[in-house]
Amino acid sequence: MWLGSIGHVQWGLTILTTLCVTQAADPIELSVSREGGNKSSPLLYGIMFEEMDHSGDGGIHGQLLQNNGFQGDSLGLTAYAPVGAAVISQDKSHPVSDSITSSLSVSVPENTTDYVGFANTGYNGVPVLNSTYTSSFWMMGYYSGTINLQLVGTNSGIVYADHNLTVESTDANFTQYEATFNSTLSADGDNEWHLTFDGSKVAGSSLNFGYIELFPPKYQDRENGLREDLATFLEKVGFKFLRFPGGNNIEGLEVDSRWKWNMTIGPVVDRPGRNSDWFYPNTDALGLDEYLWWCEDMNMTPLLALWSGKSYGGIVSGSDLHPFVDDIKNELEYLFGNTSTDFGKLRAQNGREEPWKIDYIEIGNEDDLTGGCDTYPDRFNQIYKAIHDEYPNITLVASNGDYSCLPSPLPTGVIIDLHLYRNPDDFVALFDQFDNQPRDQPVMVGEYGCRNTSNAKGTYWSYMQGSCSEAIYMMGMERNSDIVTMAAYAPMLEHFGLIAWSPTLYGFNSTPGSLTPSTSYYVQKMFASNKGDTVVQVNSSADFGPLYWTATKTGSRYYVKLANYGTKEQNVSISILETSSGRLEMLSGSQFQGNQPYQMEVETEHTEVHSENGTYSVKMDPWAVAVLVVS
Ligand SMILES: *[C@@H]1O[C@H](CO)[C@@H](O)[C@H](O)[C@H]1NC(C)=O
Ligand SMILES: *[C@@H]1O[C@H](CO)[C@@H](O)[C@H](O)[C@H]1NC(C)=O
Ligand SMILES: *[C@@H]1O[C@H](CO)[C@@H](O)[C@H](O)[C@H]1NC(C)=O
Ligand SMILES: *[C@@H]1O[C@H](CO)[C@@H](O)[C@H](O)[C@H]1NC(C)=O
Ligand SMILES: *[C@@H]1O[C@H](CO)[C@@H](O)[C@H](O)[C@H]1NC(C)=O
Ligand SMILES: *[C@@H]1O[C@H](CO)[C@@H](O)[C@H](O)[C@H]1NC(C)=O
Ligand SMILES: *[C@@H]1O[C@H](CO)[C@@H](O)[C@H](O)[C@H]1NC(C)=O
Ligand SMILES: *[C@@H]1O[C@H](CO)[C@@H](O)[C@H](O)[C@H]1NC(C)=O
Ligand SMILES: *[C@@H]1O[C@H](CO)[C@@H](O)[C@H](O)[C@H]1NC(C)=O
Ligand SMILES: *[C@@H]1O[C@H](CO)[C@@H](O)[C@H](O)[C@H]1NC(C)=O
Ligand SMILES: *[C@@H]1O[C@H](CO)[C@@H](O)[C@H](O)[C@H]1NC(C)=O
Ligand SMILES: *[C@@H]1O[C@H](CO)[C@@H](O)[C@H](O)[C@H]1NC(C)=O
Repeated sequence: MWLGSIGHVQWGLTILTTLCVTQAADPIELSVSREGGNKSSPLLYGIMFEEMDHSGDGGIHGQLLQNNGFQGDSLGLTAYAPVGAAVISQDKSHPVSDSITSSLSVSVPENTTDYVGFANTGYNGVPVLNSTYTSSFWMMGYYSGTINLQLVGTNSGIVYADHNLTVESTDANFTQYEATFNSTLSADGDNEWHLTFDGSKVAGSSLNFGYIELFPPKYQDRENGLREDLATFLEKVGFKFLRFPGGNNIEGLEVDSRWKWNMTIGPVVDRPGRNSDWFYPNTDALGLDEYLWWCEDMNMTPLLALWSGKSYGGIVSGSDLHPFVDDIKNELEYLFGNTSTDFGKLRAQNGREEPWKIDYIEIGNEDDLTGGCDTYPDRFNQIYKAIHDEYPNITLVASNGDYSCLPSPLPTGVIIDLHLYRNPDDFVALFDQFDNQPRDQPVMVGEYGCRNTSNAKGTYWSYMQGSCSEAIYMMGMERNSDIVTMAAYAPMLEHFGLIAWSPTLYGFNSTPGSLTPSTSYYVQKMFASNKGDTVVQVNSSADFGPLYWTATKTGSRYYVKLANYGTKEQNVSISILETSSGRLEMLSGSQFQGNQPYQMEVETEHTEVHSENGTYSVKMDPWAVAVLVVS
């Protein structure tokens, strides 16, 4: 995405519930070939992730407390509040580590007798489930006795979790304490985390607390891992690759605030965080290794992007880029080096003995935009050489597809990356975009998604017409997936109410049950989990439009995708000889219908299908998207 194109995002999409009497169009007959066909990229459908809309911090990364290390320049005491008579302040004279340069001072008035302390209200509240939580904090100052941790309703005062632990703290240093406890379910997200202590022991004095953390159950139980609920929901889509960590967010508003790989590794208390490109500080708790564990645990191929010299506040090229190229070499040694190398050893110390497996690396992001074009060929060549000389088997990706911004010639095998945010009609018009491309230039569509670009403020949330247009564009890619190797829907996730860009694949907030898949989530799931390894020919009784189709197969299993971008119902008869049964997945809804939090209106329906003679009848409603899977 491009920072220049974002606008203020509105809540709510008016859902037009027009009851129109639709007439059926003439039936269309499709016959799917059982012979020949072109190979289809096994990686085709993936997802792009970058830290925006609190997709990571306050999103898929499991840690639930906001501003937990006072990182970045802008937050102050955001999300903190005193409990009882305590007085709290951000204390820069008591850093927790070299990286976490502030702690919270909690001072206790004279003659206090109660438990006092502080609260953290999370990211617009704390999701409190009937579940097991882990919480930790660093502490400094003389205190011997009980610390009480609670999860409690901010307005209701209901206590959902209540746990004591005993500490022996001095003012010699910060020490970390950790506790695990169970909670009961809160019906809403209006909750906070409390830490209190016996105020009578500290009356007239103060204690310092720092780098607080709270985790619900974690995906695959990884330390510093992902939220189990949000990660499992993503895993179900069946994406084959993850493009990360940006996107704009890798670039930095200034050179010095770029995404720096070596600030995102090791103990979280040693990660300083940064002011990001999307208007809130990043904790970098979701760092380089966490992204790679994520890929491995979800069986996705990593597509790692590197900083290529472009920030929004300046560009580094020519010989000035040399130190940054050296930094890339260090990053590669960290990822792939033997544990006898300096950085390979560091990787092992950080919990990963084996080298990471990364076959795809992208050089920069959108270097055709924001002043990057002229210098990109030079920057690309320097970085390409550094990587290719040492790791010839890694496939490299150029950050754009504008040949005037690329080296000429582009080295053989380099993938070009196109980004498309379009309105529905434009996506449909691009169905044939790849039909006549040279077959020797591999392409990635590294970001795409339907936005209502006729509306300067963007679309709040996906709706059937838009998702149908994405499906048609994806069919154009799938038909050409001998050259379109990868395609990543973007962006992935938003925390409702904390957004800079919409729509996303799915969203949520701190209230239980708020996780909401968009109509595009269902399209991605239908496409990513139903694709063969060979694209096969389809004979048809009509041309493309408004009905579109594509067919793939693996062995004797066939996958036929259909989308109806018309206002009339369309009957389709599909013949696939020597098949007899399978299922039909159908996503159907009215033109502007979509899912809203607590208002799920459209989801994929599965029905079993059987045929005596290999012919299947499918009724496609206007804007419907379907996949027939038979063998
Ligand atoms: C598709 O049409 C071609 C040309 O008419 C024909 O040779 C082929 O058998 C047809 N394939 C199927 C599956 O109907
Ligand atoms: C604390 O209590 C002592 C003894 O009762 C009293 O002299 C003092 O004024 C109290 N201090 C405050 C701040 O209330
Ligand atoms: C809470 O979770 C436990 C363990 O999973 C389960 O046995 C119990 O029934 C749950 N309680 C409620 C109220 O859902
Ligand atoms: C925690 O300790 C305090 C002080 O001893 C006590 O009043 C409270 O009941 C304890 N809470 C739990 C959950 O054990
Ligand atoms: C903190 O101070 C205590 C007491 O002086 C010492 O035993 C401990 O090793 C120190 N811990 C760290 C992490 O420096
Ligand atoms: C927390 O819940 C789990 C599973 O429901 C249970 O096995 C465990 O004993 C509980 N722990 C405590 C401290 O109650
Ligand atoms: C990260 O790498 C840069 C460039 O090599 C170096 O200047 C910096 O000191 C490193 N930072 C850390 C925390 O290792
Ligand atoms: C590191 O190199 C040594 C010596 O070449 C080799 O024995 C060892 O297997 C290598 N380790 C890894 C993790 O590749
Ligand atoms: C590159 O791939 C080839 C073929 O798979 C393999 O033989 C070779 O060892 C690989 N080279 C490196 C440097 O990994
Ligand atoms: C798209 O934007 C236009 C112009 O603002 C608006 O009239 C229309 O309702 C929007 N459509 C959707 C589905 O949001
Ligand atoms: C295979 O690719 C060629 C070259 O683009 C194209 O002409 C042909 O239609 C494709 N076949 C199928 C089954 O898509
Ligand atoms: C296949 O069977 C269906 C009914 O089972 C029938 O309507 C259709 O005409 C048959 N098609 C062919 C090609 O025989």
